[in-house]
Amino acid sequence: MAELAHRIGVSHTAPYAALTDKLRAAKAGQRKIHYLPPYRGDNSIRLSRWLDTPVDQLAAGVSESLIKAIVAQRNIKSDEEVAELEKAVNFTGDMHLAVMKAAKPGITEAALAGIAAGIAQAHGTQPGYSIILTINGQTLHNHYHGNTLTSGKLVLGDFGADSHMFYAGDITRTFPVDPTFTSRQRDIYNLVLQMQLSAIDALKPGVRYYDVHLLSARVMVEGLKSLGLMKGDTDEAIASGAFALFFPHGLGHMLGLDVHDMEDVGEQYVGYAGELERSIQFGLKSLRLGRALQPGFVLTVEPGVYFIPELMDLWQQQGKYLDFINYDKLQAYRDFGGVRIEDNVLITATSHRILGNPIPKTIAEVEEVRKAHFPLLVS
Ligand code: GLY
Ligand code: MN
Ligand code: MN
Repeated sequence: MAELAHRIGVSHTAPYAALTDKLRAAKAGQRKIHYLPPYRGDNSIRLSRWLDTPVDQLAAGVSESLIKAIVAQRNIKSDEEVAELEKAVNFTGDMHLAVMKAAKPGITEAALAGIAAGIAQAHGTQPGYSIILTINGQTLHNHYHGNTLTSGKLVLGDFGADSHMFYAGDITRTFPVDPTFTSRQRDIYNLVLQMQLSAIDALKPGVRYYDVHLLSARVMVEGLKSLGLMKGDTDEAIASGAFALFFPHGLGHMLGLDVHDMEDVGEQYVGYAGELERSIQFGLKSLRLGRALQPGFVLTVEPGVYFIPELMDLWQQQGKYLDFINYDKLQAYRDFGGVRIEDNVLITATSHRILGNPIPKTIAEVEEVRKAHFPLLVS
């Protein structure tokens, strides 16, 4: 134990069994005991015993200064951590390519999710979070895998592998069940790609991620206006929150040992850090990262455009945003699903770098894979 402790820079060790008495003595001596919000139930029980505090009162005693110190340390990735994240992204890329090759009409989502998990396992690791692989990409964080792929649908795959040291990759790709995109799918896919590329292009130290989210939303509103699905003044469409009908989640989040890195210690410390208020507006409130970027941050860039029939109907019935949304034109998109494209990006000293080997992303790249692996139909 002493050897292991030395390797990670810990100079003082004591028997684990002595901890309870040590903490009791500290408490009796009115000393402040610093602890983080426990992630896991078993740790909550342990802490509760050590501190002689009911489990439901642990949250009130967490140490803000310890949270801030750990967030400051873990938000900035060292070169070794970046290398580890890059390994995770490369395992993840292999998962996505295998799924893109295997998809065809008649195969189930579950079979494709199994292929993704199998590739992670073949690399000696496992998925870092529950696999999203669905023809209903408009339902966010959709872990149902019971559908069968049918011609005309899109497949949205959001999954990733852990590296051997448990750093997470978090990539999304969307592709057609058919060998090629339909013209409607192309329009929306290219718009999401433009949202993602312009967001990535803007990344550098000092830029607030909140502003990059809005930049991406602006690209989307302009694009949806030219497709006739939105209308009116772009600035107002954004300020009013109308755009969130199509983009109801955040542009991205910190990535590290956790896929939403450190979310359990409190996203406000990780993604906002007192620099700005988190919005309470539908859509924007789901932005996990808003603060100004620093060299060493690793984050995801994952815009999407979704057609959510239940939300479209609800807002139309409520008469919401009639100046900005062409509800009639949206009817043709009820079965469209959703498109998201997600990559993992390092903020460098002056700019940014997309981590990992490229994974097919443009329409031409995706269609090349789909066409090369599409089963021949014999009539
Ligand atoms: N995989 C969940 C996310 O992209 O945030
Ligand atoms: Mn993801
Ligand atoms: Mn993500």
